[in-house]
Amino acid sequence: MTDENELEYVLDLPERPRRNRRTDSIRRMVRETHLSPDNLIWPVFVVDGEDTRQPISSMPGVERMSIDVLVGEVKEAEALGIPAVALFPAIDESLKDSMATESTNPDGLLQRTIKALKEAAPALTVITDVAMDPYSSDGHDGIVRDGVIVNDETLEVLAAMAIAQAKAGADIVAPSDMMDGRVGFIRESLDEAGFTDVGILAYTAKYASSFYGPFRDALESAPRFGDKKTYQMDPANGKEALRELTLDIEEGADMVMVKPALPYLDVLWRVKEASSVPVAAYHVSGEYAMLIAAGEKGWLDHQAVMMESHLCIRRAGADVILTYAAKDVARFLQG
Ligand code: PBG
Repeated sequence: MTDENELEYVLDLPERPRRNRRTDSIRRMVRETHLSPDNLIWPVFVVDGEDTRQPISSMPGVERMSIDVLVGEVKEAEALGIPAVALFPAIDESLKDSMATESTNPDGLLQRTIKALKEAAPALTVITDVAMDPYSSDGHDGIVRDGVIVNDETLEVLAAMAIAQAKAGADIVAPSDMMDGRVGFIRESLDEAGFTDVGILAYTAKYASSFYGPFRDALESAPRFGDKKTYQMDPANGKEALRELTLDIEEGADMVMVKPALPYLDVLWRVKEASSVPVAAYHVSGEYAMLIAAGEKGWLDHQAVMMESHLCIRRAGADVILTYAAKDVARFLQG
């Protein structure tokens, strides 16, 4: 080690990955993953009434909105370049029953919302949730009989719901119920009813996750007994997601989904590798809440971890991300 000869300190390292990280312009040039507003779907909660915004305490920054308020917000989202919204109606308790009857009401809240949005923003894609829980007095995604969630009879209810949504103008229906055979059953029913152009975004690998807590607060849709483990997937299973993927694609899914996102990036990767159709990931309510809470505590830089999380979900294989932070992300990308 001599002062005169600095070269002595230079190792013989032909490979120096840091050269590709040296400047911002080089980093931009070699970046493998990009995040754009095109990759975002904004899930929103709609409630009956007028000029109404109801904050959801476990999801700061997210509100249940009446249709008139939602129309304004959605136009803003469209102007930010967000291509799609996913609608979730908060149904009044008095309208819930064991068969989710309200879900097919042509004048029901969801159907009115779809019509209002298609009128106000015709080019925006409207995605609707197909599952019984927002309408069910049992808080389950399927019909309950003697404490059991029955599969095959539920399919009739789901298909009728999907048709009601398609009639109101939904572009894509998204079955989130995890009943067996529902994608094929809904596809056939839509086709028979003349809705061959309405797409299906299948919640393919939807896990029985505790990260859905804040969403169930938003819709007051928590199961009234038991849990959803007999239909949603076991968080311990990865390979099983590929079985669900094969079935959903065979049955006619146009897009598939992994949900939640961040704790399931390995599943997302596996599904992306095996899928012939575009893959969505749902950055769910609990994931959103965690990042906000840590930001509020001053423990994390909220904006930085939000952008990083979305980028990582893309890197793991998501073509599109359902995210409550869609507008914040799009605004940040606009600079
Ligand atoms: C209902 C549904 C749920 C979510 C989307 N659709 C909740 C559940 O299955 O209990 C969760 C979304 C979120 O947590 O953000 N079938």
